[in-house]
Amino acid sequence: MSPSTRAFMVLVLIADFFAIIYFGGHFVITGAVLPHNAHAEENMIAKAEDPGSSADHGIKVAEVAPFDIHTFEADAAKGAKISGKCKACHSFNSGGKNSIGPNLWGIFNSPIMNNSTFSYSAAFQGKKGELVWDKDALNDYLKNPKKYIKGTKMAFPGIRKDADRAHLIAWLETLSE
Ligand code: HEC
Repeated sequence: MSPSTRAFMVLVLIADFFAIIYFGGHFVITGAVLPHNAHAEENMIAKAEDPGSSADHGIKVAEVAPFDIHTFEADAAKGAKISGKCKACHSFNSGGKNSIGPNLWGIFNSPIMNNSTFSYSAAFQGKKGELVWDKDALNDYLKNPKKYIKGTKMAFPGIRKDADRAHLIAWLETLSE
């Protein structure tokens, strides 16, 4: 072997050495990183098409369930405190006096205008025989009284928080024999 041939072979060996490092490294990059990126891209596309999709197992899109007064776990003790908002106009005890509004003992599941000693508005009189103060009716009325019964003389803006109305109604439910 001539010295120049030997020099050439050494060069080839060095070139091979770097080629292995280079392409070997490249193989690792394509094998591990690229498919992962491609997967992430698929997820992004799936998400863009359907924001509720769970194609991406890492990220969950929070869903807010609509409030349901029938499944909500209301706390009558909290409701008793919230009833302070009503006491300027209502008494709640058995045999209690009417004031600006009627006494509300036994109001839960009673027909509208069940208190024969109170003089209700014309708006209420128009609902006589049509409405029972069940959970849904109380919930709708107490959310926005003037919207639920147009012309009511109950001058109260309503209780905005769903949970607070549910607590209060759970407490009203306890006011009977
Ligand atoms: C500013 C006074 C006032 C406040 C505060 C008030 N109410 Fe009333 N409420 C009335 C009046 C007056 C009526 C009678 C409405 C009518 O005749 O139009 C009434 C009627 C009602 C009725 C229907 C009664 C029936 O016999 O059919 C319910 C139920 C009721 N109120 C619940 C409440 C609750 C619960 C609260 C507190 C969150 C409250 N009210 C706060 C004045 C008030």
